[in-house]
Amino acid sequence: MSSALRFVLATGNPDKAREIREIFDDVGLQVRLIPRPADAPEVPETAPTLLGNALLKARKLVAFTGLAAMAEDTGLEVEALGGAPGVLTARFAGEPPDEQANVDKVLAELARARRRKPEERRARFVTVAAACWPDGREITTEGRVEGWIAEERRGTGGFGYDPVFVPLEADGRTFGELAAVSPAAKHALSHRGRAFVELAERLKTVFPSAIMGK
Ligand code: IMP
Repeated sequence: MSSALRFVLATGNPDKAREIREIFDDVGLQVRLIPRPADAPEVPETAPTLLGNALLKARKLVAFTGLAAMAEDTGLEVEALGGAPGVLTARFAGEPPDEQANVDKVLAELARARRRKPEERRARFVTVAAACWPDGREITTEGRVEGWIAEERRGTGGFGYDPVFVPLEADGRTFGELAAVSPAAKHALSHRGRAFVELAERLKTVFPSAIMGK
């Protein structure tokens, strides 16, 4: 009989939590993701890197709950903007985080820089995933996807910057358009898909009993 792994999930973002659940289901790993307790303190993302912030969030949650915890941090790096928004991706247009305003700001800055051709609008998404246990064990993985920023929003699927991110490995559709067809079409190429598939593979080797059907 297979048995599910249990992790408290650091993210309070329902879109990220849904995607992480879908990715684990797709690879056949039984993982029970427990929502972050309402009284868990907010962890400011003060580290200078995605890895630092993912570990910060997972370790703080382990310390607070005494349970294994999982966290992720994601950044969008736009080449023509010197790698911005990067670690500031969630707050690019200021506080409080506003996804519409963030996308508007990326589009406005590229327009101001007169970057119109896809090759002048190159960008990548990077996700770092972290799983941490109370005994000090930690697994971290990274996933990335190369692409470019469309001039206007396309597609109703996904979230955040998805309507303007065009992955190079697809057919010109944005993540917003791909995810509207099926979430799996985004996960097959996405930064989050790649980081969490690798995390799932690493977890399967350590905890084979969590493989579905075992
Ligand atoms: P953080 O990882 O919570 O710091 O958030 C990063 C920012 O990137 C947020 O504004 C999210 O909306 C955005 N974001 C994270 N993952 C994705 C994604 O898969 N597609 C589009 N936007 C994303």
